[in-house]
Amino acid sequence: MTQSTGHAQKVSLTGIKPTGTRVSIEEGGSVHLGNYLGAIRPALALADRYRCVYFIADYHALTSQRDPDALRENVRDVAATWLACGLDPDKMLLFRQSSVIEVFELTWIFACIVATGQLERGHAYKDALDRGEAPNAGIFNYPLLMAADIILYDSDVVPVGPDQRQHLELARDIATRMNHLYGEGTVVVPEAVIAEAPTVPGFDGRKMSKSYGNTIPLFLPHKALRSAIMKVKSDSSAMEAPKEPEGALVYELFKLVANADQQAELAKKLRAGNYGWGHAKQELFEVLEGQLAPLRERYQALRANPKEIDGVLEAGADRARMVARRTLSRVRRAVGIE
Ligand code: TRP
Repeated sequence: MTQSTGHAQKVSLTGIKPTGTRVSIEEGGSVHLGNYLGAIRPALALADRYRCVYFIADYHALTSQRDPDALRENVRDVAATWLACGLDPDKMLLFRQSSVIEVFELTWIFACIVATGQLERGHAYKDALDRGEAPNAGIFNYPLLMAADIILYDSDVVPVGPDQRQHLELARDIATRMNHLYGEGTVVVPEAVIAEAPTVPGFDGRKMSKSYGNTIPLFLPHKALRSAIMKVKSDSSAMEAPKEPEGALVYELFKLVANADQQAELAKKLRAGNYGWGHAKQELFEVLEGQLAPLRERYQALRANPKEIDGVLEAGADRARMVARRTLSRVRRAVGIE
């Protein structure tokens, strides 16, 4: 199928939902360390194997976001974060979902071949019903828009966490259906790549997540980052006591950021005794600070210059639109609209 689109390299696509409340740059931005280690860093590492298409799913956020200023700000914050973390806009596409309105045309075409029962089985929709809520039609149609996101850009692979698996299955289903109804090669059938990304624990040991309130914001300033790391849970063994690093939260976090030599050395010091968890936390902080300080600097510079962010997003949207229009015109012809 890849040949039909003329791409030499496979396309990896992902959507980033800009959710949340208003962000404060001083409080470290809207993205946390778990997002960085578990999603951003692995997604950026795909750049040498794939043509990467990353977009900010602002219309998906609108299913729950009711604060226009927060939405606007979150979009820029997410863009600044990914750029600061090393997304190279010359090599990868970064844009706002809403800038390429072609996606809605494809959404409608898909709506016409998907059974409502399939959407009724959607996890997010069902969960909302189970909680006694009255989910809006945006939540109901969320997986359709997501399928359109994926298929519009001829995606071959979509690296997602397990929570997005059902959405991916629907997108695959729709793509297969389209090709069956309208001819092989009408659209590219995407594969799910369940990211090998690590689960990052928060400072209390549970998965780092805003809903647990245990996050470490990615761009906390130096001092605040150190205090946050000092809050990482550890047992109360005496400083002198030899300590087992494996399974200890501080060391688990350390393994996610330090190289093999640094890991071996810290493990040795802990096992030898006369080395407290506080010392280990200081070491974790230093390694993290070393890696994050340059990113934080870029992030702050970008946040101070929203025009630059908007410029990158617009340039990305212009290129994305070209791919989108090509796919859409293929699909329009196939279904008989053109
Ligand atoms: N639903 C995804 C999430 O909540 C965001 C998203 C929107 C997405 N469109 C996508 C992810 C397309 C992958 C591909 O995280």
